Amino acid sequence: MGNLLTINGGKPLEGRVTVRGAKNLVPKAMVASLLGSKPSVLRNVPEIRDVEIVTGLLSVHGVKVTKDPKTGDLGLDPAATKSATSSEIDAHAGDSRIPILFCGPLMHSIGEAFIPDLGGCKIGDRPIDFHLTVLRSFGAVVEKRPGGIHISAPKGLTGAKLELPYPSVGATEQVLLTAVKAEGITELKGAAVEPEIHDLIHILQKMGAIITVQTDRTIRIEGVDQLSGFNHRAIPDRNESASWASAALVTQGDIYVEGAMQRDLTAFLNTYRKIGGEFEVDDDGIRFWHAGGRLKPLVLETNVHPGFMTDWQQPLVVALTQADGVSIVHETVYEERFGFTDALVRMGASIQLHRECLGSVPCRFGQRNFLHSAVISGPTELRGADFDIPDLRGGFSHLIAALAAQGTSRATGIEIINRGYEKFMDKLIGLGADVELSSAGR
Ligand code: EPU
Repeated sequence: MGNLLTINGGKPLEGRVTVRGAKNLVPKAMVASLLGSKPSVLRNVPEIRDVEIVTGLLSVHGVKVTKDPKTGDLGLDPAATKSATSSEIDAHAGDSRIPILFCGPLMHSIGEAFIPDLGGCKIGDRPIDFHLTVLRSFGAVVEKRPGGIHISAPKGLTGAKLELPYPSVGATEQVLLTAVKAEGITELKGAAVEPEIHDLIHILQKMGAIITVQTDRTIRIEGVDQLSGFNHRAIPDRNESASWASAALVTQGDIYVEGAMQRDLTAFLNTYRKIGGEFEVDDDGIRFWHAGGRLKPLVLETNVHPGFMTDWQQPLVVALTQADGVSIVHETVYEERFGFTDALVRMGASIQLHRECLGSVPCRFGQRNFLHSAVISGPTELRGADFDIPDLRGGFSHLIAALAAQGTSRATGIEIINRGYEKFMDKLIGLGADVELSSAGR
């Protein structure tokens, strides 16, 4: 039985939170350790569910994962890497999409990989076609088996000239993790260049890889025979930082986010300023606060880096329900990332969804049946409601809406939040939220 979170809203969130390593980097760095001939050390590792999942997956493949009890740093020793059975993999994969990234490293070390049918947040179809196409280009043989995909490299893996139809983060990571030890040169055009990708490249370079990133989304990788281990401090989670920044705005609060890094949040900070949020950057983090008065509406389009990231969209939409006028948000990365607005509307928000592209960023979803543009009219008073957490970012948005709302809300499914927000309940309580966790049966 799951937990029930009771939220008594109407109190500003005030105080300090610490953000550690990025959810969208740390699991991939852990996978990279499989490529090394020596052990690796990963620092600044958050205690989140995605890290537990990858720890389990690495362990069933024979990688020794140890955790320093004081610092939480992870030691990752791939010396005894071995095949795992599909049921062992299934037992650990949960609903994560990370298993797909095991393909290249496992083929390099043991010649094969099994990838269970993938989950991840329900924010669209989330196919893996780009991944399979690039893996085949390296020479991999992909075979559908019950419950997943078996993948092998009977003739080894060879560098390739590749071009992605869309700058997918996961597919770019797939290419990096495979090409570094493939024979010869790989050239990837149309690559994603998110900060987490640069951090993964830095990790691979520490291991001995040769990777060049050009300004036109082209990445060139010269394959090497052997890689060593790495010792690396993961970049902080810019998406968690942006989430707390939005929480400060939505609840009319004031939150110092230790670890938030301006460099990786430029597009977010511009938008935050335009909507009427205040922030102050220092060497250790960023203070975010609501300056009083009415927030301003705006027109916003999500995009790949260096654009306004899709994961920042949902928490900010809650703030836009409090802006004085009509805002438009065009989601161009995922086709179904507005499902979370249903609950906001039940709480009193005025949000209409449209199939048309309400913006100018080239988008794959126009003329198709996806409600991927939102028109938000504000300000509207939010009232407490009951809801089930739909996905990681949508769930965070529901919770901050409930914290800003008048009255009591009850949320189920809050375990999803642990996938990407470390010590979430402790942080909320530390910020003064009036919340209580109980068993959902009561
Ligand atoms: N896509 C395809 N085919 C593929 C792969 C992707 O069509 O084979 C499409 C997706 O359906 C989507 C778009 O390409 O429409 C972008 O997907 P991408 O591959 O970039 O996303 P991802 O690697 O699966 C990561 C993060 C997401 C984040 C996106 C975009 C992780 C574990 N997840 O997903 O994070 O939104 O990049 O930056 O790194 C989250 O943190 O809540 C989250 C969903």
